[in-house]
Amino acid sequence: MNFDEIIDRRGTHSSKWDMMEPIYSVPAADGLAMWVADMDFRPPACVAEALRGMLDHGIFGYFGDDRAYKEAIGWWMQTRHGWKVDPAAIFTTHGLVNGTAICVDAFTAPGDGVVLFTPVYHAFARVIRAAGRVVVECPLVNRDGRYEMDFAAYDAQMTGAETMVILCSPHNPGGRVWTRDELQGVADFAKRHDLVLVSDEIHHDLVYPGAPRHTVMDLVDDTVRDRLVMLTATTKSFNIAGTHTGNVIVPDPALRARFAARMAALGLSANSFGMIMATAAYSPEGAGWIDALMTYLDGNRVLFDEGINAIPGLSSMPLEATYLSWVDASGTGMSSEEFTRRVEADAKIAVNHGASFGTGGEAFLRFNIATPRARVAEAVERLQKAFADLQ
Ligand SMILES: Cc1ncc(COP(=O)(O)O)c(C=O)c1O
Repeated sequence: MNFDEIIDRRGTHSSKWDMMEPIYSVPAADGLAMWVADMDFRPPACVAEALRGMLDHGIFGYFGDDRAYKEAIGWWMQTRHGWKVDPAAIFTTHGLVNGTAICVDAFTAPGDGVVLFTPVYHAFARVIRAAGRVVVECPLVNRDGRYEMDFAAYDAQMTGAETMVILCSPHNPGGRVWTRDELQGVADFAKRHDLVLVSDEIHHDLVYPGAPRHTVMDLVDDTVRDRLVMLTATTKSFNIAGTHTGNVIVPDPALRARFAARMAALGLSANSFGMIMATAAYSPEGAGWIDALMTYLDGNRVLFDEGINAIPGLSSMPLEATYLSWVDASGTGMSSEEFTRRVEADAKIAVNHGASFGTGGEAFLRFNIATPRARVAEAVERLQKAFADLQ
């Protein structure tokens, strides 16, 4: 593996690279794509080999027999996260946005409130609203550049119309690995207000060396299991998001039956490419690759943070997990239109706009640093030029 290799992704139907010009007017010719959350690295060789095996065989029929897939999940969760998963609890969806949407569909009714701790991954609010449910924003508290929760304030906000809470753990976009106490707080909050608790842990393999250990929500509190749904996937960890394959893990048999009924009603079944690639990824080779990846990303994180924090008025939240850097531009005193214009038009970098992550995100931009280090250095240089008048 060579994470320094620059691979040109333009013209490959890459959402991140081929849509930055149509969406953000950042030119494809010399723009830098630092928005959509996928990486500019090839996945571990074992994943490509599995796909090559399919290609060599040459027949691409329906997928069947998911025992190896479920065994691989069981092995990975046990060895990497100390979590024993019941194979019968695992459902495979068309990725985790789809998995979230089916949870909303299966466990809430139109008009119900779904709680989000904002700012948070934008697709949650999108699917909730599209399903005719109401997003209930519980704002995270930004304490000295680190997000925390304030359950007393959230308790006061509840009206009784809420039926679900969705947690992003580790947190996108703040990069927090929630502590066990904080997770217990979320579990207690869900129990107090009788909410189904969906814990999206898609970023759980992307924890930096030296950061606190990620705790799986299912290991926090036995008494929350009857209302818990766990979301995991290989896609973010191994950079195979295009396979659109995710796991919805429902420990409680009664909740599981309701989820299974919605899956059946929607006619969902697995994509063979995603199943085969994911099975190959959850392996000792995949584990070694993730460890090397996180060491590499740690170098990117240090370089990016040093460069950004040297610009007066900009500051990045310290990342404990994820390759998504959340940059606070409020110190520039500029409007969001002006600092965004400088990033897109002057520096020619496509980023996610903070406001799309909900209340609390307005003064932020999200930068994806999972790209060869030379590009991170180039981005820092361009940003320092674009904000040179603040030096
Ligand atoms: C928290 C979170 N959940 C889900 C997704 C996307 O999941 P999928 O590609 O499986 O739909 C992302 C992608 O960035 C994410 O950050």
